[in-house]
This record gives sequence, C-alpha cells and structure tokens, in this order.
Amino acid sequence: MCNTDVFTFLESGKAMSCKVVVAIDGPAGSGKSTIARLLAQKLGLLYIDTGAMYRAATLKALRAGVDPTDGRALAEMLEHTRIELGETNGKQWVRLDGDDVTLTIRSPEVGSLVSVVSGHPEVRSQMTQEQRRLAQSGGVVLDGRDIGTHVLPGADVKFYFTADLEVRVDRRLKENHEKGFQTDRESVKREMIERDRLDSARKCAPLRVADDAIVIDTSHLTISEVLSLVEGYVRRRTG
Ligand code: DC
Repeated sequence: MCNTDVFTFLESGKAMSCKVVVAIDGPAGSGKSTIARLLAQKLGLLYIDTGAMYRAATLKALRAGVDPTDGRALAEMLEHTRIELGETNGKQWVRLDGDDVTLTIRSPEVGSLVSVVSGHPEVRSQMTQEQRRLAQSGGVVLDGRDIGTHVLPGADVKFYFTADLEVRVDRRLKENHEKGFQTDRESVKREMIERDRLDSARKCAPLRVADDAIVIDTSHLTISEVLSLVEGYVRRRTG
C-alpha cells in the first residue's frame, strides 16, 4: 500500500550532532512544534513536523475534491502525492506536489478537516511508515500525536505536552493573527475541542500519554523555560 517515494525530506546540509530520537506528543496549542523546532536548532537535530504531513494530505484532498471521509480514496490519492518537508535558513517549509504550501496548510479550512483525514488507518499507515523511515538514522525530533506511543515506541526521550484549553486557544489565536488568518475566539475554541476529541477518540493510534513519557504542563511556562527543561532531560538521558 505504501509508496516510499511519496514523501521526501529535503534536509539542508545540517550536521547531526548526535543520534538521539526525541518524541514530543500532545494536543493542539500545547507548544510542541515551537519547542521541537528550537530543540532541533539547539542540538543540531532534524525537526520532523508530522502534523504538517497530515495537513498537506488534507489540503491535497480539498484541492483534488477527494472525500475526506473516504479512507481508501485518500490512500489512493496519496499514492500520487508528493509531500516534502524541509528547512532553509532555519525556516521550515512544506511543499505539496512541488507547490509551497507552508502557510496554506495552517488555514482554518485545513484545520477543521485534518482530524477527519488523519483518523483513517489507511492514511496513518502511509504516514507512519514514512515517519519511521525519516527517523531511522537518528538525530531527530518528531512532534505529533502518536510518536511516542505508536510511530517510535523505542524513542530515546519522550515528552507529552499539555496546557489549559484557554491558554491553547490564546496561542492559536495569536498564531492565526500573525499568519493573517481572520478567526474569532469562539470558533477557534470550538474547533480545538472537536479536534482534541477526534484525535483522542479515534481507534487507530489515538492521542494519549506514553507510559514512559515525561509530562510537561506548559500553561504557565515561557518558551525558554520549557526549552531548557526539555533540553536538560534530553542531555541527561543521552549523556
Ligand atoms: O500538530 P498539528 O495541529 O499540526 O496536527 C494536525 C492534525 O494532524 C492533528 O489534529 C491530528 C493529526 N496528527 C495526527 O493524527 N498524528 C500525528 N502524529 C500528527 C498530527
């Protein structure tokens, strides 16, 4: 079912300083991607934003008119889809069939459908296979919902981030504003609650805390406080 050429990670010559594998899971707005990106920069690791892969698949379904509730049709679509993740001058980018979709995949339209698309086992198996391939040489930080529990259960260090709903809504509103998306608090909150519900309730690799994950509540911590906590754990675990 899987086409290993569907995705390519174009890595921009970054020297990996160690072979550690770090998994960061948690709900939307808990701060995973910010910390994963900064940790990767600090430790010379590759950052793989697995949510961006599901978002790109969702955008493709929207563009191609593929029914987001039809897992088989989505899997078939992915066989002919090229999703690339990369980094240039410290900035992450995402391409879909050669088109730069870095900003478009963050749109509210994609956000409201991505949990439906990512709920299909047929879609998840392709993504999981590719994520494992990208991580196989080590020196990586992956963030998502099922990295520590399902994609890489043997990861060296696992984190689970959480934060109060109101704090997560504030962060998403600020992010949307900075990206130029007009959204109101109530709809962002409603969508976040629904996405949390779908991501946690799905049968295939739901969002949950891995038994051996370090749980961090980021509600009242600054970015640099979270980063130094996480970096400390990674350095201690990996010597
Ligand atoms: O991290 P994010 O908000 O960009 O992720 C978008 C959606 O993708 C999220 O609602 C659920 C899905 N996702 C997933 O199911 N598994 C992952 N490893 C990453 C994301």
